[in-house]
Amino acid sequence: MTSGLILSDVTLLHNDGDGTVRALDGVSLEVAAGEVVALVGPSGSGKSSLLAVAGALTTPTSGTVLVGGSELSSATPRERSRIRRERIGFVFQSGNLVPALTSLDQVRLPLTFGRVANPRDPVALLTDVGMDHKARRRPHQLSGGERQRVGIARALVTRPEILLVDEPTAALDRRRSQEIVALLAEEAHEHGVATVLVTHDHDVLHHCDRVLEIVDGRLGAFTPSTR
Ligand SMILES: Nc1ncnc2c1ncn2[C@@H]1O[C@H](COP(=O)(O)OP(=O)(O)OP(=O)(O)O)[C@@H](O)[C@H]1O
Ligand SMILES: [Mg+2]
Repeated sequence: MTSGLILSDVTLLHNDGDGTVRALDGVSLEVAAGEVVALVGPSGSGKSSLLAVAGALTTPTSGTVLVGGSELSSATPRERSRIRRERIGFVFQSGNLVPALTSLDQVRLPLTFGRVANPRDPVALLTDVGMDHKARRRPHQLSGGERQRVGIARALVTRPEILLVDEPTAALDRRRSQEIVALLAEEAHEHGVATVLVTHDHDVLHHCDRVLEIVDGRLGAFTPSTR
């Protein structure tokens, strides 16, 4: 079975009333198990669109997406949501935590939606991300960086093959940004998670194995000198 994430010639068109927006234009990308790929690019260039397609949240107009060897477009909606729940982890800009839940319950939450074959232990995972001492706190009692740590633990509890991360450090200062991306890379490397990390923050790129740039929906090599 092929592990990791493979996008082949993916195009995503949006109809926005005045015409068609080509959010993704022939994107091909392979992310191996345990590899961390950073994705940079201007606003509106297609970064979130790429994550949405890779995460089975959006079906591309054409092209194929393979998650751990499973082809998303030939999967039924039910299979797709199962893949999304069990085999893909998402981390968003602000952590996206549920206000009423403690840190530990946030991490347990993905395990309550259905059977998960081989979950990580939520308490051990909170320890891994350095949040075991705040297991009983609720999001409003946590700092932005702490919320991100809990969000990362929640995304990893099902042992996803793929981790999709959209601007995790947007609300954090420089030191916390470094810590969060270092933590993501460490988890990805140790647990073999194919990770795509969207960021505007060029200071964190050295934690990643590879950096790609997307411009007008087209993916290419990142050349820092063009900025
Ligand atoms: N549902 C939609 N309907 C119409 N157009 C859309 C839709 N979603 C995204 N787009 C367009 O697709 C293009 C890519 O958007 P996307 O959200 O992927 O950009 P991005 O690189 O994540 O930008 P940012 O850095 O601002 O988050 C943009 O032109 C955007 O306006
Ligand atoms: Mg975006």
